[in-house]
Amino acid sequence: MKNTILTLEQKKREGDKITMLTAYDYSTAKLMDESGVNCILVGDSLGNVMLGYDSTLPVTMEEMIHHAKAVSRGTKNALVVADLPFMSYQVTVAEAVRNAGRLIKEGGAHTVKLEGGKEVCPQIRAITQASIPVMAHLGLTPQSVHSLGGYKVQGRETDAARKLLEDALAVEEAGAFSVVFECIPAALATWITGLLHIPTIGIGAGNGCDGQVLVYQDMLAMYGNTPAKFVKQFAAVGDIMKDAFRAYIQETKNGAFPAQEHTYKIDDATVNAVKREYEEGGLGVRKDG
Ligand code: KIV
Repeated sequence: MKNTILTLEQKKREGDKITMLTAYDYSTAKLMDESGVNCILVGDSLGNVMLGYDSTLPVTMEEMIHHAKAVSRGTKNALVVADLPFMSYQVTVAEAVRNAGRLIKEGGAHTVKLEGGKEVCPQIRAITQASIPVMAHLGLTPQSVHSLGGYKVQGRETDAARKLLEDALAVEEAGAFSVVFECIPAALATWITGLLHIPTIGIGAGNGCDGQVLVYQDMLAMYGNTPAKFVKQFAAVGDIMKDAFRAYIQETKNGAFPAQEHTYKIDDATVNAVKREYEEGGLGVRKDG
């Protein structure tokens, strides 16, 4: 079944959990879509896990569009959400609408995501009015890593918890169709989820959210670093890949690969006829003699 912003709202109403995973390329998106995930997020985590940057800050619109295109080509039923990268929406509302439009028109995404609360409500309102659904993102917002002083749990103190609630109500009021809660205490996320009409998607926010999202390299143990507390590694794909790469190297070196079944055949008579012609000088002569 095709996932849309309406089917996600319905899932919230019916208490049916929403599943979202990140993807950045065609083949991974296709596997996820075939597995039945509801939403695929072309996250700006692309910067860390695909492009090797040390944060999401350097990610450009061109990079987001390039990867969104590949993901949307691999997706039939999942709702594709693409991140607006750092500085593509903060400067002016007009720029935010233009860049959101590019992710839809050029990238093939269905919706966009941006980070922030009250301060980005004018952008959420304007992008939504341009008929582009917006997913908001609160709590630990990686694009604000320097102003947050690092990647830390958010909303633990009274002021911070109050601000989180106010921001969640504000983004809903501005027209966001959903909101990501990243790295906030579970009790707070659960309570705010109950207050909101729009679905909340948690990452490090406990199981009281309406859905969950994980970065796929984290949940498949492919990224190679110590996972954050909120990550569950559902398979050791990194180890499986390394074992396969090592087996390939070994079998190539010892001649076990390619075997007969990986090899195309030709009649001996055909090869021998061409060999004879060559040896008799009837075919091309090599420059080195
Ligand atoms: O970029 C990303 O992958 C994200 C998720 C962590 C929600 O924003």
